[in-house]
This record gives sequence, structure tokens and C-alpha cells, in this order.
Amino acid sequence: MPDRYAVIGHPISHSLSPFIHSRFAKQTGHNIEYGSVDVAPHALTDQIHRLLGEGYRGLNVTMPHKSAVLALCDDHSAAVREAGAANTLIWDGGSLRAETTDGPGLMHDLEHNLGAQLLDASILIVGAGGSTYSILGALLRAHPGTVVIANRTARRAHELVDSFAGHDNLQACGLPDIPAETFNLVINATSASVGGTRPDIPARCVAGALCYDLMYKEDGTPFTHWCQAHNASAVHTGIGMLVAQAAFSFNLWRGVMPDQPAVLEAISERFSVRY
Ligand code: ATR
Repeated sequence: MPDRYAVIGHPISHSLSPFIHSRFAKQTGHNIEYGSVDVAPHALTDQIHRLLGEGYRGLNVTMPHKSAVLALCDDHSAAVREAGAANTLIWDGGSLRAETTDGPGLMHDLEHNLGAQLLDASILIVGAGGSTYSILGALLRAHPGTVVIANRTARRAHELVDSFAGHDNLQACGLPDIPAETFNLVINATSASVGGTRPDIPARCVAGALCYDLMYKEDGTPFTHWCQAHNASAVHTGIGMLVAQAAFSFNLWRGVMPDQPAVLEAISERFSVRY
């Protein structure tokens, strides 16, 4: 009998996680079954209890449940407490542990796959929602020179910076008030792509920068297209982060780190997703 895992979210039908994890399983010779379960917000508690009762060993958690699952877990990693969100649940038959692999996934893609140098770098993160909370701690641990958090609703950017107290290289502002500095890295952490649009930031921000959208779409996102047209030095969607966070989750569950480039290549071929 294979060990069972699944990703839960709402909606979930377009998730690439089952494809990624089945590739990891094949590659490492682990006998697992990995599915996707659509869980509406009101059914979260019941569905998690049902899945654990059915013998699932772990779950990935995506929108909109990443914060709500914390109340159902017995134990939370330090990174989960910092982010206020989890994307990986580990069930040992008696206790449910919450982990987050989003930060390590992004860092792996930026530093290892894309060769980004973050030490002393000047970083602009657009958006101050759950995605920014999930990645900010990991980015700060790479010791960038400055990190500007710019959000459409400036108040939320200030609240976020206040919650990461003690980092004097961290600043908050609204979208029209982004400082006129040269950024090495610009991350779109907004959900604007979902509505087919992009955050309204000045074009000067992306000129010469490595531009990265945490979201991915087959032909790129409105943000990546716009960055390409405005002299970004390189442009990437979050597909590499998706594969990397999945690899870190697999490692937490199975104790082995799968090979990521092979799976990234397979995704590009099978889904024609731009990397
Ligand atoms: P997530 O967990 O995906 O980050 P969220 O917590 O709802 O979702 O946050 C969404 C983020 O995208 C917010 O920063 C939001 O800005 P506001 O705080 O002003 O709402 C941002 N966002 C969504 N659509 C946007 C758009 N069209 N332009 C700019 N920012 C947008």
C-alpha cells in the first residue's frame, strides 16, 4: 500500500503538485500516492480530520487555508510562527506538525537556480499579504542591504514591517511612494495576476533588475510581460519556487531531497509553462 499525501486548497484543480510529487516519488523509488482535494473554507476542520483518519501521512496546504490550518496543528516550526502560515503538514499518527517550505523554496530558486546574489542587494517586494509574510524571513536571513515593501494599501505594508521588528534595512511604503533607488531584485508578491493584471508601480523600479513573480502562468504573467517590456535584466515566474518548495516538503516527509531540474524540465515539456 502506498503512503498517501495530498494538496488541499480551494480551488485546486489546476495544481501542479500531484504531477511534481509523483515525479519525485518515481525518481526516488518511494511508494507514495499524492492527490489533490478541494476543501471549501467552511469544511477545513472536518476535511483535515477525515484525511488524517483515512491514513494520510502529510498534506500540502495552499490558498486560502495557509493561515487557517495553524489552529488545527499541535506543533509549529519557528518559520511558521514568523510567517503566520504553513504549506506543509506532517502527521505522525498522533500529532500534526506545521512547517513552511515557501521561504526555502524561493531562496533555492533565486540563489541556486537563478544565481541571484542577495547579500547587500537592494530588494523591492510588491504586496503585503500572506505571500510576503511567507517569504520575508528567509529573504532577510540572506542579509540584503535594503528591503522595501510596497503595497497598494500602504497601512498593510507598515503593519508587516512592524511585525518583523528589529530589521533596520526594512522599509514600508505605498505604491506611488517607492524610493527612487536602483533595485537588484523586484518580487511581485501580489495576487494581481489572478485578476489578469499587475501592480501599478513605476517602470524605473524594474529597469536592470531581476524580476520575479511568485505566481506562474503558462505564458508568463502580466507582471513578467510588463517587466520584459521595461528593461528588466531577467524575468522569471514562480515555477522554480513551486518545484523547490515541493522538494523541501518531500524531504520533510520522506527524508530524501529529490532532483529538481529534471522535474522543472518535465513541467516545461508537459505543460508548456514558461520558466
Ligand atoms: P496572498 O496571501 O496571496 O498574499 P492576500 O493576503 O489577499 O493574498 O494579499 C494580496 C496582496 O496582493 C495584497 O498585498 C494586495 O494589496 P492590498 O493589501 O492593497 O489589497 C495585493 N493586490 C491584489 N491585487 C492587486 C492589484 N491589482 N494591484 C496591486 N496590489 C494588489
